[in-house]
Amino acid sequence: DASDIEKGTYPHYMLKEIDEQPFVIRRIIQKYQDDNGELTVDEAIVKEVLNADRLYIVACGTSYHAGLVGKQLIESWAKIPVEVHIASEFSYNMPLLSEKPLFLFISQSGETADSRAVLVQTNKLGHKAITITNVPGSTLSREADYTLLLHAGPEIAVASTKAYTAQIAVLAILAAAAAKAKGLELDFDLTKELAIIANVMEMLCDAKEEMENIASDYLTLTRNCFFIGRAVDYYVCLEGALKLKEISYIQAEGFAGGELKHGTIALIENGTPVIALATQEHVNLSIRGNVKEVVARGANPCVISMRGLESDGDRFIIPAVHPDLTPLVSVVPLQLIAYYAALHRGCDVDKPRNLAKSVTVE
Ligand code: G6P
Repeated sequence: DASDIEKGTYPHYMLKEIDEQPFVIRRIIQKYQDDNGELTVDEAIVKEVLNADRLYIVACGTSYHAGLVGKQLIESWAKIPVEVHIASEFSYNMPLLSEKPLFLFISQSGETADSRAVLVQTNKLGHKAITITNVPGSTLSREADYTLLLHAGPEIAVASTKAYTAQIAVLAILAAAAAKAKGLELDFDLTKELAIIANVMEMLCDAKEEMENIASDYLTLTRNCFFIGRAVDYYVCLEGALKLKEISYIQAEGFAGGELKHGTIALIENGTPVIALATQEHVNLSIRGNVKEVVARGANPCVISMRGLESDGDRFIIPAVHPDLTPLVSVVPLQLIAYYAALHRGCDVDKPRNLAKSVTVE
């Protein structure tokens, strides 16, 4: 549909694609519902997952970050061990594989050369592969045994946004389907939780002014910015930092809260912005402790927490969603903050220097 790839009234594709996320989640719910209204994937795919003793997720960039969240979901819901690998490392430094590996390639474009190089290798070894992609008929889709589509619509901005949340949603559906097939029924209704998430995403997309203010207050002049989180928040911090560095050219890094004291804290100076995510109850006290540590060294903290876990002084509070699925919502403020930071600094938001939407060379 050609109208899908028009910017319409949006100044940038990136902003349009951020705003599309609630619709994409709703479309994924529709596309993955079976006749009983339950979310599931192709039976043959579930079978392959149950046959495997270990899943190997292989991806690059933002898709790799979605894979980290996917590992968490598959391991905690379906109790299947998962390894996540950067494609360009995997091809030259292949880990020792389990007896019955199953490969999961995550790629928005389905054309990334580094990921394809691994697929060529695993196909040669005779291992089964599933590709999770936004592009039907793409190379990775054609060359893998199975495909799960993202249904996110064309993503034009170089910085990936809606593909990331779509990848996590599809991985959640895969994890839930595998869990169910193993008799590990989830104690919540995934359809309902994803529907709530779509609504919360909409509220977050409506919070543009707050996010623009955060970008103004923290990122106008700075040369660097740190993102800290624990557990699944750490993975979202990696993605938040990637978004910011890609389009604003601010040196941005995501760190596990507990790892700060082992080196990174040396970089904290007076006024260094530190964006902290706090959506996980079991690590809430510890991440708050890490925020205190950086504040004591002069950092300018911006805490984004989830309702129910908030503290005085938090800069923004995200409405509560299912604790396992917080990345789907906590990434949205980070995408918007990166967008406005880049905009304010006069950067070309949709076409950042030195980057390509799809990297088809190894
Ligand atoms: C490029 C893009 C990134 C993307 C990565 C992987 O570097 O600029 O936004 O995350 O490739 O792309 P893929 O299409 O495989 O998800």
